[in-house]
Amino acid sequence: MMKWIGVFLSFLVLGISTASGCDRCVHHSKAAYFGSPSAHSVGACGYGSLAMTFNGGYLAAGTSNLFRNGVGCGACFQIRCKNTAICSSTGVKIVVVDLNASNKTDFILAKKAFSAMANKGMGRQVLDLGIVDIEYKQIPCEYKNHNLSLRIEENSDRSNNYLAIKFLYQGGQTDISSVDVARLGTSDWKYLLRDYGAVWSTSQAPTGPLQFRMVVTGGYDGKWVWANKEVLPADSKNGVVYDSGVQITDIAQQNCYPCNNSAW
Ligand SMILES: *[C@@H]1O[C@H](CO)[C@@H](O)[C@H](O)[C@H]1NC(C)=O
Ligand SMILES: *[C@@H]1O[C@H](CO)[C@@H](O)[C@H](O)[C@H]1NC(C)=O
Ligand SMILES: *[C@@H]1O[C@H](CO)[C@@H](O)[C@H](O)[C@H]1NC(C)=O
Ligand SMILES: *[C@@H]1O[C@H](CO)[C@@H](O)[C@H](O)[C@H]1NC(C)=O
Repeated sequence: MMKWIGVFLSFLVLGISTASGCDRCVHHSKAAYFGSPSAHSVGACGYGSLAMTFNGGYLAAGTSNLFRNGVGCGACFQIRCKNTAICSSTGVKIVVVDLNASNKTDFILAKKAFSAMANKGMGRQVLDLGIVDIEYKQIPCEYKNHNLSLRIEENSDRSNNYLAIKFLYQGGQTDISSVDVARLGTSDWKYLLRDYGAVWSTSQAPTGPLQFRMVVTGGYDGKWVWANKEVLPADSKNGVVYDSGVQITDIAQQNCYPCNNSAW
């Protein structure tokens, strides 16, 4: 019985929009920007210079409530500034790639993303404001040319069963809340723990070709995403990005009232 309730809930929560949840709760805050285009090239998510290749460089650092101890790394948001004389109604779509510990604004945008909130030809005016009032909402991440991918970290040592990976190109609008690895063709699953940001590791990684499974959650309930093919070959190399063969498209429901899912 409980099992059925779980299945039913995950269907409600992750499957479809219903009256009880909201795809896109709107929040009100402020945003500022980083002057340097490479300011996000290192960061608390661990993306390194790869971050510059995400989303055309439309990137942001979030405060701790958006960063959520690394769970928020890779989440996508649509942000628009409220000054209607300067700002467009669609705003900009960004990916969170770093933590900003200052609590003055929810987002510190890359300069390119900040100026993209302006109406055509008004980028200079919005940059001159420096800090602006915004509305924002989480949106599903879409990677047309990528599946969910795993990059093997430089400190991995598979001959000693130590595997550290970083998730890249996580689609949809959910959190990865747990990750397991097993040798392909077995069900001897070992769990990984989040080290920091988007980086997970285990010191019990099997040898041979590896498959993965993840639980993605929307705050209420989870769902398995199973990459049941050879994701990492037996001779996988550190520093290389491997395609999981699966992508996450689920949209977790949020709680807000009134809900307004209309597109900006
Ligand atoms: C946070 O953002 C501000 C810009 O508003 C910047 O001066 C500061 O260095 C950033 N802090 C961190 C830890 O990145
Ligand atoms: C920002 O907020 C967090 C959580 O409320 C708090 O732990 C942290 O000390 C604050 N940081 C600053 C610089 O005020
Ligand atoms: C994603 O993985 C599938 C195999 O499951 C593959 O057919 C497809 O080409 C991959 N997509 C991309 C964009 O790499
Ligand atoms: C929903 O949001 C749109 C766009 O911001 C707005 O035009 C519309 O009036 C809103 N609808 C309701 C019922 O508040």
